[in-house]
Amino acid sequence: MYNPILYSNSNILQRRDAKYLTDNYFKYIKWLPNGGDVSLDIGCGDGGVTHEFFLNNMPNSIETIVATDLSSEMIQHAAISHQHSKIQFQQLDIGVKTLPKHFIEKFDHVFSSYCLHWLHDQRKTFQNIYDVLKPNGDLLVSYLANHPFYSLFETVSKFEKWKSYMTDCNIRIPPYQKCSNTEEVHKQILESIGFDVKICKCEKRTFLYKDLMSWRKTIESVNPFINRIPESSRKEYIDDYMAESQKFGLILENNTVNTPYELLIVYAKKRI
Ligand SMILES: C[S@@+](CC[C@H](N)C(=O)[O-])C[C@H]1O[C@@H](n2cnc3c(N)ncnc32)[C@H](O)[C@@H]1O
Repeated sequence: MYNPILYSNSNILQRRDAKYLTDNYFKYIKWLPNGGDVSLDIGCGDGGVTHEFFLNNMPNSIETIVATDLSSEMIQHAAISHQHSKIQFQQLDIGVKTLPKHFIEKFDHVFSSYCLHWLHDQRKTFQNIYDVLKPNGDLLVSYLANHPFYSLFETVSKFEKWKSYMTDCNIRIPPYQKCSNTEEVHKQILESIGFDVKICKCEKRTFLYKDLMSWRKTIESVNPFINRIPESSRKEYIDDYMAESQKFGLILENNTVNTPYELLIVYAKKRI
């Protein structure tokens, strides 16, 4: 889905929010009293957040982080650029029907930043997360409840010239993009699976892109359809997102780009 190098060069929003997550929510994690914690990072991407924000905020006594991603390109890139004795990189689709056996009940903690909005079936995804946790293990994740970026997807997918490339647009839009009571709906899913939910909240946040080029690079770097568009038309495709961004009122007079969005933050424990 992603080009790892393009992603690493345009992920300032994701890095800012990963820092926000660790600065404000890592204090809730129940580290093992005698150390040896084994953690899973879901959707680690280029590995930067796993290493710089997750690993660097963990106690020295932890054993390992298994950093996983759906994309083999991301895993290969991450394994080279964030090589570390306490991080193992592995390919994993967290939405998979049957989890590999060696993941079941293996983890004391699960972390994830800016990934789980790609998983349309939230119940299955969180059931899988439940299954990989040891009893009493905990989960700290943040991901997009909604973002104007996805409203742009929907608009552009209706353009005659692009619609054949974006037929699966609906399942690429975050499952809570249009939900007015995300916290209640999501908490109910988690509790019915067997989590003891300590925090489940949607935080209203904004990010200001300092110029049009930064916004353009973001649209390109996390766009799941771009590789389907013939190379000769890709500039025109992104130009259309930029024109729609103007119509949506995201582009301000000084050519900065204002994006209001909601970040869903969950801290929960697997009941014994
Ligand atoms: C926006 S990146 C976030 C990367 C990193 N966590 C960060 O905060 O910079 C989202 C990542 O989720 C991965 N992803 C998407 N669907 C996934 C799935 N079903 N299972 C695991 N990873 C997935 C993508 O391949 C991508 O690398």
